Amino acid sequence: GAGSSRRLRHVSSVAAPPSKVSRLNAVVLGDALASKEDDLVIPNPDFSAQAHVHSPGKYLEMYERSIEDPAGFWSDIASQFYWKQKWGSPVYSENLDVRKGRIDIEWFKGGITNICYNCLDANIAAGNGDKIAIYWEGNELGVDATLTYNQLLHNVCQLANYLKDIGVRKGDAVVIYLPMLMELPIAMLACARIGAVHSVVFAGFSSESLSQRIVDCKPKVVLTCNAVKRGPKVIHLKDIVDAALADSAKNGTVVDVCLTYANESALEKESTKWVEGRDIWWQDVLSKYPTSCDVEWVDAEDPLFLLYTSGSTGKPKGVLHTTGGYMVYTATTFKYAFDYKPSDVYWCTADCGWITGHSYVTYGPMLNGATVVVFEGAPNYPDSGRCWDIVDKYKVSIFYTAPTLVRSLMREGDELVTRYSRKSLRILGSVGEPINPSAWRWFFNVVGDSRCPISDTWWQTETGGFLITPLPGAWPQKPGSATFPFFGVQPVIVDEKGAELEGECSGYLCVKGSWPGAFRTLYGDHERYETTYFSAFPGYYFSGDGCRRDKDGYHWLTGRVDDVINVSGHRIGTAEVESALVSHPQCAEAAVVGVEHEVKGQGIYAFVTLVEGVPYSDDLRKSLIMTVRKQIGAFAAPDRIHWAPGLPKTRSGKIMRRILRKIASRQLDELGDTSTLAEPGVVDQLIALADS
Ligand code: PRX
Repeated sequence: GAGSSRRLRHVSSVAAPPSKVSRLNAVVLGDALASKEDDLVIPNPDFSAQAHVHSPGKYLEMYERSIEDPAGFWSDIASQFYWKQKWGSPVYSENLDVRKGRIDIEWFKGGITNICYNCLDANIAAGNGDKIAIYWEGNELGVDATLTYNQLLHNVCQLANYLKDIGVRKGDAVVIYLPMLMELPIAMLACARIGAVHSVVFAGFSSESLSQRIVDCKPKVVLTCNAVKRGPKVIHLKDIVDAALADSAKNGTVVDVCLTYANESALEKESTKWVEGRDIWWQDVLSKYPTSCDVEWVDAEDPLFLLYTSGSTGKPKGVLHTTGGYMVYTATTFKYAFDYKPSDVYWCTADCGWITGHSYVTYGPMLNGATVVVFEGAPNYPDSGRCWDIVDKYKVSIFYTAPTLVRSLMREGDELVTRYSRKSLRILGSVGEPINPSAWRWFFNVVGDSRCPISDTWWQTETGGFLITPLPGAWPQKPGSATFPFFGVQPVIVDEKGAELEGECSGYLCVKGSWPGAFRTLYGDHERYETTYFSAFPGYYFSGDGCRRDKDGYHWLTGRVDDVINVSGHRIGTAEVESALVSHPQCAEAAVVGVEHEVKGQGIYAFVTLVEGVPYSDDLRKSLIMTVRKQIGAFAAPDRIHWAPGLPKTRSGKIMRRILRKIASRQLDELGDTSTLAEPGVVDQLIALADS
C-alpha cells in the first residue's frame, strides 16, 4: 500500500539528546528569552494585554488542561454552540493504532446540531442580523457588494429550498465549481443547512480533474457560473463544466442538473453554451423560493463535506470531515489563532476551493459571527498594491495569506505597500508552506509596520484546522517558526523507526491522539486512510511533513517528506503530474521532482523520456506542459522539462528520485553513490542535457 512504499527524505538525522522527558514537550520561556543567537520578536505589551491568551503562562494553563482533560476542555467550548440535543457519553472515542483494529475517531457523537444554523441563525438570534457578514470585492475596481447576516441567511435559504425541491437529501453529494463569488460560501452553507455533503472543486482545476471528482462522489447537481474574470482574463467555467459532465456521463455518472450563476460582468447569458433540460440559470429560479428554510438536524458525526487532495499516488483522495468536531475546532482555532474580536474585519486570500477557504473563509469566521472579505480577483490586478487597497477600503484588521503571495509582492518593492495606510491591520497570518525568515520579516516590518504579530499556521486538509500555530500576544515569535501546538494537539517528532524524539530534534512530524477537527476517513476508501496516515508510524497520525524542534521547543516545519510537492501553497502529487505527462503520445516515461523556487516555494521539475526516435523540440516541451494543464490545471504546469534519454533506476527498476532531485537543483557534487544504478551512465547523460 501507499504506506509501505513511502519515500522519506529531507530529514537530517539529529540524535535526540538524553534530556529529561516531558509530557508536554516542555516549553520553557525563560530559556527562549535568554538565548542570544535566536531572533525573538517580542509581542507589544499593549497587544498582549488585550489578547485572549496574553502570556505563555496562560497558554500553558489552557494547553495542559486540554491534554489532561480533553473531554472536559472541549465540552466546555462545545457548550457555547447550539445543539438541538446534547452529545452522549463519552465525549469522544478514538482508535489511532492500526495494531488495535480499525482507525476510528468520533467527537460529540449523539449530539444533534447544524453548522449552518450555528453560522447564521445563532448569530442573528444573538442580535447580529444587521452586521456585515460578507464584503465582496470584485475583480474590477469599484465593483463590490455586501451581505448582512440576515441577507446571507435569506440567500442561503433560497438555495437550500431549491436544492430540496430538485431532490437533494441529507447525505447526498453536491459538487460546487465556483470562483470567489458570494455564491460560493452561500452554496456551502445551503448544503450544510439541508445535510447535503458539499464537495467544492477549486475552479482552477481542469475538466478532467473535475470529472474525476464527479465520478467519485456522484452528485445530483453541480453548482457553477458561466464565467469569471481573473485579472484581465476571462475564464469560461461553464465550458469546463460541460466537458466534465460529458466525460462523467461516459464514465457512468450522469448529473441531472447544472445550476449556473450568470456572472454577467464576465460573460453575457446569451453567449453561454447551454444544454436544455439540464442547465438552469441560478437567478431565474432562486428568487421564486422562500427566504426561510428549516434546518436538517444532523448528528455530530454526519458528514459535512468532502474535499479532494493530492497524495503520493495518482488518484486524489476524498478527505471527509464530519459536522460537530469540525464546527467546534474551526471556530475555536479561528478565535484564538487570530485573537478574534467582534470588531475585527477579517480577510483570508485563500479560495474556498481549498481547505483554507472552507475552514477560514466560511466556517471558522462565520461561526464567530465575523465580517469576512471575499475577493474575486487577483492580487496583482490592476497592480500589485491591490491587497493594501482592499485592506484600506474595508479597514481589514486580520489579513491571512500564503508565503508565495508575500514573496511575490516583496519583489515589487515597498512603495506599492507603503503608499497605503494599513493602519487597520492588527494581525497577519501565513499558511500553506513554510515561510522563510526573510519573507516573514518583510511581511512583519513592511506590511505590518512592525506592529502586527504573524500567525504562521501549520495544518492540512486532513486536520480540518490549525495544529501548530502562534497565539498572537502570547509568545515571543521566531521568524519562520510555527511555534507551538494548539490546544488539545500533541505533536510528536519521530525517527525512521517511529521512536519519539525528545528535546531538540528533527524528524517526521506525527500527532498523538485525536482532536475534534480531524478527518474521519477517505471517502469510499477507509483502507487507504489507514495505510496512508496511520501505518507508517503505528500509533500516530503521520502528517507527511518533516519538522525540527529547537531547544526552546519551537517547531520549524521543513516541508513534505513524501512525493507531494507544494507549489505556491498548492499540494500536488508528483505521481499525478507524471501520469498526465505519460498520457502524451510522445512521452515514454516521466519522473517529477520539486525544486526550490524563489516565489512559489517549490517548482515542478519534470524529467521526460520520449518515445524512441522522437526528436527534442521546444514545441514538444510546450505540448507536454499543455497536457498537464489540460489534465490537472494551470497551477500544476511543470516549470521545467528536462530531456532524459533514460532515468536513473535501481536494478529492481525503482526510479532514484534522490539523484533526480540533486540534478534538478544542480547539486552535482552531492549525487552520492550511483554505482547501484542499473545503468550508471544515465546520470552523465542527464547532466549533459541539463541546460539544453
Ligand atoms: O507541507 C505542509 C504545508 O501544506 C501541507 C498541507 O497542504 P494542504 O492540505 O493543501 O493544506 C494547505 C493549507 C492548510 C502540509 O502538509 N503547510 C501548510 N501550512 C504550513 C505548511 N508548511 C509549513 N508551514 C505552514 N504554516
